[in-house]
Amino acid sequence: MNPAHPIEHAVVIGASGGIGRALVEALAARPDVESVTALSRTPARFDDPKVTTGRIDLLDGSTIAAAAAACVVRPPRWVICAAGVLHDGDLQPEKSLRELDAGRLARVLAVNTIGPALVIKHFAPLLPHQGRSVIAALSARVGSISDNRLGGWYAYRASKAALNQVIRTVAIELARSRREALVVGLHPGTVDTGLSAPFRGNVTPGKLFAPEFAAGRLVEVLDGLSPDASGRCFAWDGSEVPA
Ligand SMILES: NC(=O)c1ccc[n+]([C@@H]2O[C@H](COP(=O)([O-])OP(=O)(O)OC[C@H]3O[C@@H](n4cnc5c(N)ncnc54)[C@H](OP(=O)(O)O)[C@@H]3O)[C@@H](O)[C@H]2O)c1
Repeated sequence: MNPAHPIEHAVVIGASGGIGRALVEALAARPDVESVTALSRTPARFDDPKVTTGRIDLLDGSTIAAAAAACVVRPPRWVICAAGVLHDGDLQPEKSLRELDAGRLARVLAVNTIGPALVIKHFAPLLPHQGRSVIAALSARVGSISDNRLGGWYAYRASKAALNQVIRTVAIELARSRREALVVGLHPGTVDTGLSAPFRGNVTPGKLFAPEFAAGRLVEVLDGLSPDASGRCFAWDGSEVPA
């Protein structure tokens, strides 16, 4: 927690997911947080009275606009988008070029890039003009172009690389109106959720994080970043993920 910069009101998108739920709970547990708006496509339930739930579908821009409009009465200082897709039924990450499919590529980019971009479009204007504020989106290390040595996962990699570029571009624009605002991507490590479940074969023992651990580390990282971090992507341990 950073006592100089109380969060007061926070919004988490993707609150039905493993990391999203843990982020809601980590934020609500903090004394400097008065309320958390937990938005998700599938309804999510939270026992903490600080948490209010609502609906959002990243594939339907009108739900994003409506969710942001509902936050005008209690503008957030932190907005975290923890929604994303890697696999879903017939949608599976590509092992090779011959598995590329236009429809599946479009679906992954719609959820992982266009959705968070629209979230930022609608929620950034709510951030206070004075004082520290944060917009973060869950990205992934595999979105790093310079770090790509394994190949594969075309759609997911491209969607996160494009998300990182959106974040960089927003950071430049937002700095003009809100000098202390931060817009960053986050890599949570490999986390024990439905998203990673089929792909954990090569994870070193001890490197598969519980969602609560990852969420706690990500919140700590966000607390510690200075304004010059805006536009960049950071991992759970505070290290920068190269572009
Ligand atoms: N787990 C990892 O190891 C790992 C590693 C690197 C990055 N990440 C990133 O971390 C983020 C969270 O992933 P997770 O591990 O917590 O996965 P998860 O448990 O599968 O959660 C994914 C979340 O995304 C939501 N979502 C998917 N499509 C949506 C849509 N159209 N509209 C609104 N919400 C939608 C899901 O909502 P529903 O409940 O309605 O499906 C769910 O809340 C993702 O961006 C992922 O790429 C995860």
